[in-house]
Amino acid sequence: MKRVYNFSAGPAVLPLPVLERARDEMIDYRGSGMSVMEMSHRSKEYMAIIEAAEAKLRTLMGIGEDYAVLFLQGGATLQFAMLPMNLITDPATQSADYIMTGSWSEKALAEAKKIFADVRIAASSKGVNYSRIPRQEELTLNPDAAYVHMTSNNTIFGTEYPYLPETGNVPLIADASSNILSRPVEVAKYGMIYAGAQKNLGPSGVTVVIIRKDLMGRKANLPSMLDYQALAKEGSMLNTPPTYAIYILGLVLDWVQEQGGVAAIEQRNIVKANKLYAAIDASSFYLCPTEPESRSRMNVPFTLAKPELTDAFLAGAKGAGLVTLKGHRSVGGMRASIYNAMPEEGIDALIAFMHEFERTQA
Ligand SMILES: Cc1ncc(COP(=O)(O)O)c(C=O)c1O
Repeated sequence: MKRVYNFSAGPAVLPLPVLERARDEMIDYRGSGMSVMEMSHRSKEYMAIIEAAEAKLRTLMGIGEDYAVLFLQGGATLQFAMLPMNLITDPATQSADYIMTGSWSEKALAEAKKIFADVRIAASSKGVNYSRIPRQEELTLNPDAAYVHMTSNNTIFGTEYPYLPETGNVPLIADASSNILSRPVEVAKYGMIYAGAQKNLGPSGVTVVIIRKDLMGRKANLPSMLDYQALAKEGSMLNTPPTYAIYILGLVLDWVQEQGGVAAIEQRNIVKANKLYAAIDASSFYLCPTEPESRSRMNVPFTLAKPELTDAFLAGAKGAGLVTLKGHRSVGGMRASIYNAMPEEGIDALIAFMHEFERTQA
């Protein structure tokens, strides 16, 4: 067996101890005589798994009792629509603010426009190809907005908020798909945080929604599967939840706890990201398109001063066991996604390859 360093933006690398534990428990989960995949979601064993997953997330993130934690399906993408469907009670008169920082913000905005008319853009960095995060003073916020939507980390463009937007009494909603659990956050400052699991939390198939309870149940007669209140009431079990994905998510949360929790993970992420950005900045052979203050600790895009060498870089990297480094087409070049589960040795191996490539190709 050979494991590579997988820099995929998502689904992404999982901690090896999590995969090993899942392997060991695959056929006979802790004496139950069956796999978690084969279990009724209403069984005693499975109820313990989902309840523990929620409790662990609450502890790790410091989520108060005034917030519901939901394990949903449909990806972060469904949240782009569910959010306005639940929070906009009068589509004819209400408005919400969107801070535009990349392709995922654009997708969130496009879905909102299908639900209500007055979707406002509070700020956008599209003019500079989303290479930076708009600052607080650039946000034109409507004090009567139903909510403010932000993408806390921009997976494609490699930017991340260096500050928390101040929105007064207007609930702040964050798509944290690509940086949840990578740094401590003050949950109480948000109306809702949502994230597809497939980067920092586990496999694809489950989406975590952390929502202030008073924001649920505002809109009557929603289809049950699109209604936060109805889903919360049934403990995310209005129908069969993505049982196996939630089980793996629980193992990932155990691993985060074993690493010392989110604050300790953040310190490791700072070290990893600083090393990689320093290697890029140290050489004119490599270029980073993002403004230094807005740089993401999770997704690091970089290009070559000689772009014609990009394919050779990717092929050489692959040969060295460094895979899925191809950049998104809207940025080009390379993108190293270095989520929580990417070990520091993976960064070191990438930097060593970058030095060697530059030495032989420059
Ligand atoms: C920031 C962000 N939001 C939303 C999505 C879409 O997530 P999903 O595929 O779970 O719908 C992604 C996926 O990469 C993402 O990075």
